[in-house]
Amino acid sequence: TVGNSTNIKWHSCSVGKLDRQVLLGQKGCVIWITGLSGSGKSTLACAISRELHSRGKLTYVLDGDNIRHGLNSDLSFKAEDRAENIRRIGEVAKLFADAGVICIASLISPYRKDRAACRALLPEGEFIEVFLDVPIHVCEQRDPKGLYKLARAGKIKGFTGIDDPYEVPVNCEIILNQKGHETASPCELAEKVISYLDKEG
Ligand code: PPS
Repeated sequence: TVGNSTNIKWHSCSVGKLDRQVLLGQKGCVIWITGLSGSGKSTLACAISRELHSRGKLTYVLDGDNIRHGLNSDLSFKAEDRAENIRRIGEVAKLFADAGVICIASLISPYRKDRAACRALLPEGEFIEVFLDVPIHVCEQRDPKGLYKLARAGKIKGFTGIDDPYEVPVNCEIILNQKGHETASPCELAEKVISYLDKEG
């Protein structure tokens, strides 16, 4: 039995992960960007994608907001639905990495245990957790979609950082913050992530 399925058997294919790596000339992995709403996750994800793309690397961005338009359109923001959102994106990201793609997932993913479960899906070193550490007062000041305002007014319930928790990563590979670096642009932040990838091969 696997999950709720019985009588199923894994079928492996003669074209494997390594074959695809050789064909593409790159190793797949998952770059998992976590952080508050308005911290700039999507912008960072696209900046990383753009830069790697220009270096001839195949990337794909899985953005929480975007995936909620399709695959995850049945999910709300209550804790169990967020967990399911994260689980599904984790599984899809794993497939992309298996396909040889550098997959960049950007979603709030507020709960530690859900992020840890996604990490556990991948081989050591293939899950790179990036904490976009922007203080809530900065996110709230930006408020690009006006959601913090609505949350403060009680018009959105269970908003991350207001009346729903955000659990800060404890064992992530990369922390990006503005400390002593008042004006780091998305490109500069992307560069930090890419130098990590370079360093780790
Ligand atoms: S999660 O927690 O990982 O499942 O969230 P995610 O899929 O990344 O979706 C976050 C975006 O949904 C909008 N939104 C909310 N965010 C937080 N809490 C509540 N209650 C909520 N309701 C809607 C919000 O625009 C988030 O967008 P980002 O890009 O993170 O700002």
